[in-house]
Amino acid sequence: MENSNIFAIEKELKLDEGYQKTYKNVDELLPTLPRSKGWWLDQLLQYQGFWLSTYSVRGSMLIDDHFNPRPTDIIVATSPKCGTTWLRALVFSIINRNSFDFSDHPLRKANPRDLVQFLEANIRGDGSTASIDGLPSPRLLSTHLPYSLFPECMTDDTSAYRFVYICRDPKDVLVSKWHFANKLRPKGVPPLSLEEVFDLFCKGVSHYGPFWDHVLGYWKASLESPKKVLCLKYEDVKKEPLGCLRKVANFLGVPFTPEEENKEIVEEIVKLCSFENMSNQDVNKSDTRSLENPISNSDFFRKGEVGDWVNHLSPQMSEILDQITEQKFQGTGFSFH
Ligand code: A3P
Repeated sequence: MENSNIFAIEKELKLDEGYQKTYKNVDELLPTLPRSKGWWLDQLLQYQGFWLSTYSVRGSMLIDDHFNPRPTDIIVATSPKCGTTWLRALVFSIINRNSFDFSDHPLRKANPRDLVQFLEANIRGDGSTASIDGLPSPRLLSTHLPYSLFPECMTDDTSAYRFVYICRDPKDVLVSKWHFANKLRPKGVPPLSLEEVFDLFCKGVSHYGPFWDHVLGYWKASLESPKKVLCLKYEDVKKEPLGCLRKVANFLGVPFTPEEENKEIVEEIVKLCSFENMSNQDVNKSDTRSLENPISNSDFFRKGEVGDWVNHLSPQMSEILDQITEQKFQGTGFSFH
């Protein structure tokens, strides 16, 4: 999401030469990129096959030039509205399960976005990589960037970085994004119609879209490098949370021990991270939206259900989306069923 204040701050920063060079490259590149109407007040730019905000193009280029990956890094990757908040909470709870008591857990006091750093945003938080470089290992980071935009040193099959990805039925993603986008539109700006966003979404024009290409990037990587990329579906985690959590823990090399199973730690994590529990924490209930900070924690919780699209999309819209999905995923071995 655009935040013009961040850019204003950046302009005032005293950046070292390396950063200055990257920012200069960004400034030169941006005007050359194809543009399209965004979902908020922003415009989206087509960068290496994906529609990104200025902010994300900049983040991606900064990652290329300045991110210092560590083999122990764990990256929670998602397309927006596919369950980022949920997955951040789950992975955070899994890898820190011995550090906190469930009754007094950080997730009861903080939104997952405050516990898991958003890579492409914080790579330049204060104009440098300091806030990311300063994190202890193993670092848990979050991204919306497509897999293909990560530097080869991270996606190379022999490298140790791990990506946990979650995706979701595009019909529910569209509905969730539509609600989210309208919440973020400043007062006085007319809401986006469902027809309008449907059209954009189908053309692939949505933050980090085309949605289907985003999924396929991670899906193909998970087939080629199963030790490196794990693909989950929101619907599966809803249906079989315990099995999915065990899968994630195994993938991350921290399987639940028989003792932990006896103590029902997996069940505790599922409960802690459930929509009901998280959306009812005070920290996630408050509406703190302001001009400087247009997103509040409560915006990340709406219904948390599978299949809510049926209450919004016309039969024709759902059919068109299903057709696109079928075409895009044909022969890839991936499906949402
Ligand atoms: P809905 O709008 O369909 O309710 P993201 O975190 O990627 O922005 O995704 C937000 C979506 O995930 C919203 O979907 C939100 O309600 C849902 N969500 C948030 N926390 C969740 C949780 N703990 N369990 C399940 N779904 C959750």
